[in-house]
Amino acid sequence: MATLAPVAPVRAVDPLDVSRPELYRDDVWQAPFRELRATAPVHRVEHSDFGPYWSISSYKPIITVESLPDLYSSQAGGITLADFIENNPGDVRMPMFIAMDRPKHTGQRRTVAPAFTPSEMVRMSDNIRTRTSEILDSLDWNTPFDWVDKVSVELTTQMLAILFDFPWEERRKLTFWSDWAGDIELAKNDELRLERLKHMYECGAYFQNLWNAKVGKDPTPDLISMMIHSDAMAEMDQMEFLGNLILLIVGGNDTTRNTMSAVAYGLDLFPDQRAKLEANPSLIHNTVQEVIRWQTPLAHMRRTATADTELEGQQIKAGDKLALWYLSANRDESVFENADQIIVDRANARRHLAFGHGIHRCVGARLAELQVSVLLEEMAKRRMRVNVLGEPERVAACFVHGYRKLPVEISRY
Ligand code: HEM
Repeated sequence: MATLAPVAPVRAVDPLDVSRPELYRDDVWQAPFRELRATAPVHRVEHSDFGPYWSISSYKPIITVESLPDLYSSQAGGITLADFIENNPGDVRMPMFIAMDRPKHTGQRRTVAPAFTPSEMVRMSDNIRTRTSEILDSLDWNTPFDWVDKVSVELTTQMLAILFDFPWEERRKLTFWSDWAGDIELAKNDELRLERLKHMYECGAYFQNLWNAKVGKDPTPDLISMMIHSDAMAEMDQMEFLGNLILLIVGGNDTTRNTMSAVAYGLDLFPDQRAKLEANPSLIHNTVQEVIRWQTPLAHMRRTATADTELEGQQIKAGDKLALWYLSANRDESVFENADQIIVDRANARRHLAFGHGIHRCVGARLAELQVSVLLEEMAKRRMRVNVLGEPERVAACFVHGYRKLPVEISRY
């Protein structure tokens, strides 16, 4: 008689464990977060696929945590709920300043910040507009296509290729590496962790060659050259340089891409708001903020407590991990009225937390805003409306919050 294999104990689903990927795949995360905000904005989840963690789900305590970066570290446990496992095959810690504390964070952030100043944005804006126009003009009217692939991925990838002076024909490699690097569901599977590591090494080797080609040469206006010639570069070793490049690829890729997809999906979901915007293009800048708030392309960032402390009456112990759910804070009704709706002229759309807050607030925010504004401006010039033809395929993960496919067609209004 065949012996039965031992059955792994089945854990009951905790309805308030908001790290479950199916909540995002099926777009049903809103209700558990509503309950958390109402009843337990600082809530401990004892059992999850990522181990025990605290869920911080409303606006105010997230600001509190982000304002105390020494007490709530980005370095001690990294920036996502997935833990780095020491000596685990597939787990090599890439040093990136998003996962560093002061003072190291300060010095390394300084190497890339000059690429995102307002004057750099002005310098880049013509190029962004040209690329955006080319992509929009290549689309067939009244014919179904996938907005994610044809517009969101293509535009963000082109922007990153320009930012890095990356070989143009190979730019989709940036998308490929970014998708691997940002997928925290992979952390649950040893084989996939190893495969991810392989791709990260490929990415590292590729950038090493780009670096070699620029070192010792005159400065050029791209991020790699800017980093090589920066004073703060002296504080960075080779691994840190590569880690930070990967950070910029991932940071600038999924996030902006998913905002561009949300422009199409979200405005179609609220046609009265879309009509308001179409009638008044001066609302574009506010709409960009509002769509970023509504989408929140990164659902959370993680912090790790460095000492015992108290947060909203809850006892946090040194070493505890906290998920800061920007996705939920941006739907906090005490800050944003009718928060689940896109309202293109919402007065306080800018207060969203999608870029985080405090010393780690997104360094690329201006670039992301510029790209999305230009997209909306160029759509308005063409009187282009995006009609969604069916439900999107969504990313099944609690970190990157976005879309894999979005069937649409475009028409003129
Ligand atoms: C940091 C979101 C676009 C590069 C962050 C953080 C968030 C975020 C939530 C962490 C903040 C914190 O811990 O407090 C977004 C969103 C974007 C976007 C929603 C688009 C809509 C970009 C772009 C780039 C970029 C275009 C660069 C090309 C970075 C970097 C950091 C960062 C380097 C680390 C900053 C630090 O630790 O000091 N971003 N980001 N991001 N982002 Fe973005």
